Amino acid sequence: MLNKTAIVTGGSRGIGKAIALNLAESGCNIVINYNNSEIKANKLKEEIEALYKVKVLTVKCDVSKFEDVENLYKIVKKEFDSIDFLINNAGITKDNLILRMKESDFDQVININLKGTFNTSKIIGKHMLKQKFGKIVNISSIVGIMGNAGQSNYAASKAGVIGLTKSLAKEFATRGVNVNAVAPGFIQSAMTDKLSEDVIKKYEENIPLGNLGKPEDVAKVVNFLLSTNSDYITGQVINVDGGLLI
Ligand SMILES: NC(=O)c1ccc[n+]([C@@H]2O[C@H](COP(=O)([O-])OP(=O)(O)OC[C@H]3O[C@@H](n4cnc5c(N)ncnc54)[C@H](OP(=O)(O)O)[C@@H]3O)[C@@H](O)[C@H]2O)c1
Repeated sequence: MLNKTAIVTGGSRGIGKAIALNLAESGCNIVINYNNSEIKANKLKEEIEALYKVKVLTVKCDVSKFEDVENLYKIVKKEFDSIDFLINNAGITKDNLILRMKESDFDQVININLKGTFNTSKIIGKHMLKQKFGKIVNISSIVGIMGNAGQSNYAASKAGVIGLTKSLAKEFATRGVNVNAVAPGFIQSAMTDKLSEDVIKKYEENIPLGNLGKPEDVAKVVNFLLSTNSDYITGQVINVDGGLLI
């Protein structure tokens, strides 16, 4: 991955941070996108630059806003000759049973998780089609496959991401751009820190491998999907869930 450039949305913390570190270790230049976490993004930039000989750029952008993503693209294009990898990782939850869910909570989750993935895939995808090379990995969730009470907005957004992944894989296939998705199960991060100990214990009892995953477990699969080892793979969804969905 030497001299390749990867944009990681929501790359300053959690799973996105693990992806950024992992790709930098493989020699990739990294664009760390953040929306709120500017300090974390700058700290991670310093950390990566101290560890690896790669270029790192931090860019503020709300992926749910098309103009923000256009601006992100302009900034990245000025800095790097090619944009090779896009990892659509930014995502939020706003959990509640549907009867208690506010319309704004539904809209916000769809706008960031699904529309955000549309925005970046359209703008960065166009660049990749022109350069006749690119790999996109979308971070979905097993909840998008199995559903989850209290997460109808999130499940719908992540199921949408899978539909988007498969459709774009078909649209981009002849132009050298692969599009795949990773569906994590329950991974240790700020997102799962919100869950009570009881809920986590219950999930763990149902995970064949016995424990929550680590952000690095997801990052390793993303690395595979961006590497030449996966050149003949497109339109796939790989579950990283300790066997939860078996
Ligand atoms: N943790 C899990 O168990 C799990 C399981 C399945 C799937 N996932 C998915 O994995 C991805 C990462 O989750 P995580 O666990 O690492 O969560 P996290 O620690 O809460 O991090 C979420 C990331 O998304 C970014 N983000 C949120 N809204 C954004 C926006 N409008 N524009 C740009 N960035 C935005 C945040 O950036 P700022 O802080 O800068 O706003 C942050 O970097 C998400 O798509 C999530 O749905 C997680």
